[in-house]
Amino acid sequence: MERSTRPRVFVTRQLPGDALARLAGQVSLRVWEEPLPPPREVLLTQAQEVEGLITLLTDRVDEALLASAPGLRAVSNVAVGYDNIDVAACTSRRIPVGNTPGVLTETTADFAFALLMGLARRVAEADAYVRAGHWKTWEPGLLLGTDVYGATLGLVGLGAIGTAVARRARGFGMRLLYVSRQPRPALEAELGLTRVDKATLLAESDFVSLHVPLNAGTRHWLGRAEFAAMKRGALLVNTARGPVVDPAALAEALASGHLGGAALDVTDPEPLPLDSPLLKLPNVLLAPHIASASHATRGRMASMAVDNLLAALAGHKPPHCVNPELFP
Ligand code: DGY
Repeated sequence: MERSTRPRVFVTRQLPGDALARLAGQVSLRVWEEPLPPPREVLLTQAQEVEGLITLLTDRVDEALLASAPGLRAVSNVAVGYDNIDVAACTSRRIPVGNTPGVLTETTADFAFALLMGLARRVAEADAYVRAGHWKTWEPGLLLGTDVYGATLGLVGLGAIGTAVARRARGFGMRLLYVSRQPRPALEAELGLTRVDKATLLAESDFVSLHVPLNAGTRHWLGRAEFAAMKRGALLVNTARGPVVDPAALAEALASGHLGGAALDVTDPEPLPLDSPLLKLPNVLLAPHIASASHATRGRMASMAVDNLLAALAGHKPPHCVNPELFP
């Protein structure tokens, strides 16, 4: 039997849009067709046999996987975040890693703002109230929420998504604070943002919205001390990564009432176990990590991931590469 000279590629899930059909025309393609991620042993076995991997944020690409995959030449993640990948280990083996920045910025910011509004105005609670048949009359004190207009929003991180959220918040007349390692004077002038230190952001914000990648410096950025330093009744929005928040401290802050509520597209762990205390709290609005989930954006992410992979397999720098130092 003639052996194909096309590079072999394993994709850990079906992807929306036509990107995989395009990929199939150029490589020898295997796609994991199940709805749940491939079990670790399947991922390890597949990685041993292929030159290219397209992964999702649920797939761990670590030293152990790389050590058992001598032929691997490219890893492409269908996400802007890449905390599931040991990038240093890939770099030391000269394996380029691609991600999908930019295309999901506005879609994710839309959803962050939807969560902020939904939490502030108790949209999910109101829907459940009506469906349960509790609506008997107009009541002056029914389902009172928090005003967004005129409130102070503290943005943790002012990258592309944080900035896109700031633009939306400005339209709602919010006062805007941010913490970021880099001052952003042009954005401050354009959007009326004020750069503050962490303590000031926590003390003055009515809403805190997280927009940082997960890394050693941001893991548990919000813990017991930080929740205690927040304004009583403040609301938290997390569309970044679950472990940016210490889950035990979050549960305590909600249970004590010091934190007014939380809207979480991301949690630690994912998915949340069904006995999680968060599921019992009416002031917690939950979503299953879908901030970038529009038809158009998920199609663009898949397409970008394919472009990154094909470039790396051809020995070129992927258009969006998180270890560009491999291509001096
Ligand atoms: C990402 O891209 O990192 C998101 O979490 C999924 O879109």
